[in-house]
Amino acid sequence: MSSQVAAPFAQLATPDAASPLAGPRHVAIIMDGNGRWASSRGLPRVAGHRAGAEAVRRAITAARAAGVQWLTLYAFSSENWRRPATEISDLTGLLRHYLRHEVAELARGGVRLVIIGDRTRFGADLQAELAAAEARTADNTAFILVMALSYGARDEIVAAARRAAELAAAGTLDPASLDEAGFAALLATAGMPDPDLILRTSGEHRLSNFLLWQAAYAEFVFLDVLWPDFAESHFAAALAEYARRDRRFGARPG
Ligand code: FPP
Repeated sequence: MSSQVAAPFAQLATPDAASPLAGPRHVAIIMDGNGRWASSRGLPRVAGHRAGAEAVRRAITAARAAGVQWLTLYAFSSENWRRPATEISDLTGLLRHYLRHEVAELARGGVRLVIIGDRTRFGADLQAELAAAEARTADNTAFILVMALSYGARDEIVAAARRAAELAAAGTLDPASLDEAGFAALLATAGMPDPDLILRTSGEHRLSNFLLWQAAYAEFVFLDVLWPDFAESHFAAALAEYARRDRRFGARPG
């Protein structure tokens, strides 16, 4: 592969190295159930999203305490653009609030914030705030928080295929030499380790267009809790379940 497609996080971690931890190195979470949490209380959906933003703090604390190095949160899917304009505006407003009020603390705590997804669909002001938050935390390596925003895995894979075709057409990529590692380097997650564990709250058992490529060998844990009620104890329970799994990556049982 040419240097044009070098992994942007290569300096942060060695994704291919075996994790020295007993637990997962990378946890990804599909945060689901904000709307149901709100409606069960007779509250507007935005109240559920606000409470969901509080649960984000608890998830980060729990992940760090458990020695997880990468946490990816599915905060806004490409399909979420189909929601009513008022809800989209509530969600982007919350995101803006989160960036303004939490990034300083993330930066102080050694957290690097990385955004994946099609940020061009957000307004110019929010795009600038996202870029500023990433730049402000870019040198941190203690913990990587990846926010999937306006993210859709099929979009991501199509964009990577398009890029590969462009490089081949330009003569910088030999199609015959394109392998899994080379293709992964064209994805938004280039340089990141694949998630070891994917959690989804709210009792739904779906991937919903999240990290389709990267989830190839992930373990899945589905939690019967609505996201705003997510507590450190749920994270601990998920890690305990993960510890009981026997990950063979397709190899024969030993
Ligand atoms: C799913 O609940 C959640 C979302 C669509 C958005 C996730 C947003 C947050 C956790 C809050 C904002 C986060 C940050 C980082 C500022 P849902 O609305 O689909 O719930 P439902 O399935 O019960 O309707």
